[in-house]
Amino acid sequence: MPIIYLNGSFMPREEAKLSIDDRGFIFGDGVYEVTRVVNGELFESGRHLTRLSRGLADIRLDPVESLADIEDISRRLIADNALGEGEGTIYLQITRGAAPRTHHFPPADTRCTVFLSAAKFTVPHDKRATGVSVVTYPDIRWSRCDIKTVNLIPAVLAKQFAVDHGVFESIFVRGSAVMEGSHTNCFGVLDGELRTYPSSNYILGGVTRDVVIELAKELGVPVAERAFHVADIPRLEEFFVTGTTTDVMPVVEIDGKPVGSGTPGPITRRLYEALAARLYARVPAGR
Ligand SMILES: Cc1ncc(COP(=O)(O)O)c(C=O)c1O
Repeated sequence: MPIIYLNGSFMPREEAKLSIDDRGFIFGDGVYEVTRVVNGELFESGRHLTRLSRGLADIRLDPVESLADIEDISRRLIADNALGEGEGTIYLQITRGAAPRTHHFPPADTRCTVFLSAAKFTVPHDKRATGVSVVTYPDIRWSRCDIKTVNLIPAVLAKQFAVDHGVFESIFVRGSAVMEGSHTNCFGVLDGELRTYPSSNYILGGVTRDVVIELAKELGVPVAERAFHVADIPRLEEFFVTGTTTDVMPVVEIDGKPVGSGTPGPITRRLYEALAARLYARVPAGR
């Protein structure tokens, strides 16, 4: 029976109860994080907590739990859910709490709802070996995509579009610019240079994206945070998506047309290997 954390208590998942007045349910008024756990260790916890704290500030939420508390709670969930070995994830969601429905903020003493859970996770190595297909999809999102809000309807529709087309991911296109995936960031290789949409309010600042940019610099791969466009897609030498549960995933087909050679490219492979070296730095097994 999985153990979760909800508003100050650890309990079996089945016993957790939320108010129907919770503003996460009523308005999508909250933020979330997904953090990777490898052999009991949180991966890049500091970066996730920094993004969380920015998101909380942006939507003006101030939970009782500090960032240090959240890390402690995550560690306890790793232990209580036997995630000391192998792969897992911690899911966290913080909402503005339960209060009578008003669009404006509830009374100041309303407790934020803080929920964390832990789960085992299977790494999609089979997909990585062959590479995956993606489709493009109009970016119908708002102009604060940098906030990791639980308001995910555009992402839900986009990902379902991918599922309907039997592919791994949808890639948002805003105007003509290639932005990011429904739940991933994306990178292309053009003329030997790694390109990705610049950090801005129009994409989520992915933790994996940041790590991959850092790794590219370490490996001497030319990298630029500069947009590329739909018209560039036929010229792409490589393309891949990144995310906490996706790592570096080679994309071999976009909208039914092959990317480069139609197989995972060499820069993509090197970056995955470098990311894996960090993920599994302490325990080489479990890959
Ligand atoms: C829209 C979007 N972009 C990118 C990402 C990847 O971010 P991270 O690498 O932090 O998982 C996510 C993750 O959920 C996302 O939802």
